[in-house]
Amino acid sequence: MSTRPAPLAWGRRYLAVSPDHFRVDYAINPFMHLDDQPDPVRTREQWDAMLAAIEAAGATVEVLPQLAEAPDMVYAMNLGLALERPTGEAHVVLSHMRYAERRMETPVAERWFADHGASVQRTGRDGVGAHLEAGDAFAFGGELVVGYGPRTEELALKHLATELGVSVRGFRIVHPGMYHMDLGFCPLDETRAMVCPAAYDDASAAALLDLVPEPLVLSEEEAMTFCANSVVVGRTVVMPACPDRVRARLEEWGFEVVVVEVGEFLKGGGAIRCLTNPLDVRLGRDLDLVPGGRVTLA
Ligand code: ARG
Repeated sequence: MSTRPAPLAWGRRYLAVSPDHFRVDYAINPFMHLDDQPDPVRTREQWDAMLAAIEAAGATVEVLPQLAEAPDMVYAMNLGLALERPTGEAHVVLSHMRYAERRMETPVAERWFADHGASVQRTGRDGVGAHLEAGDAFAFGGELVVGYGPRTEELALKHLATELGVSVRGFRIVHPGMYHMDLGFCPLDETRAMVCPAAYDDASAAALLDLVPEPLVLSEEEAMTFCANSVVVGRTVVMPACPDRVRARLEEWGFEVVVVEVGEFLKGGGAIRCLTNPLDVRLGRDLDLVPGGRVTLA
C-alpha cells in the first residue's frame, strides 16, 4: 500500500499587496508591453477573487497597501524571503531587485516586516551587493532551492547559505520567459513539485529532476500558461491556469485544483505565486539548519 506524502508544512499565511496602483510603466520581462495596460476594475476583481480562493483553501492573507510610484509592488513575492526562526519569531531577507524600477519597494517592505516584529536582513544595499529576488527562492526537501541568472545573482546564494545557515541548491535559469524560479518550479508536497526543465540549462534541469522525488514535469508550452505560478494550501492548488494533463495528474495525486483568472496580472509578467508571499516557511522545519551553510550548484 502506498502512503501519501505529507502536505507542505508551510503555505498557510501570506502577505499580499493591494493593487491600488498596478500599471505597466516599463518592460523588464518579455510579458510587459506599455500598450497593453491592465484594466483597473478587472484588476481589482481578479485580485479579490484570488484572495477569496486562498482563504477558502484555509490560508490567511495580510494586505499591504501599494506605493503609488511602484507599479510592480503588487508582486509581493519579490519583497523578500520571509522566514520564521525555530522560536517562531519572524525574519526576512529583503530582496535586492535586479532593476532600479523596483528598488523603491524594498524600504516599504522593510518597514512592514519591522512593524510586524521581524528581524530584517539584506544581502546587499541598493546599488551594491548581489541581486536577490525572493521569487527565485523556495523551501523544498529541507533545502533552499534558488534559481539564478535573469534576476538573482549566483553570489547571492553564497550569502543566503552563510547568513541563514542553510543548504542552498542553485539552478541556472536560461529561459527568458521563466525569469523567476516560481515560473518553472512549484513545490506541491513533501516529495512532489511541478518542474519545467526548459527553464534551466541542461545540468540544472537534470539536477532539479533529480532533487524532486516525484516531479510533475511541465512542457515549455504548459509552463507558459503560468500554471507553476500557483499557491499550494495543504491539498488545494490555487492556479492561474491548469492544462488538462496537469490537472489530471494533480487530481490523481489527490489535489483539488482551483483556477482563478488573473489575466490582468499576466500583463506584468506574474500570476498567483508572484502576487503572494508565504510568511510561514520555518527555519529548522522546512529548511534544515546547516552550521556555516552550504551551496550546491548543478
Ligand atoms: N513585473 C514584475 C517583474 O518583472 C513581475 C514579477 C513577477 N513575480 C514573480 N515572483 N515571478 O519583476
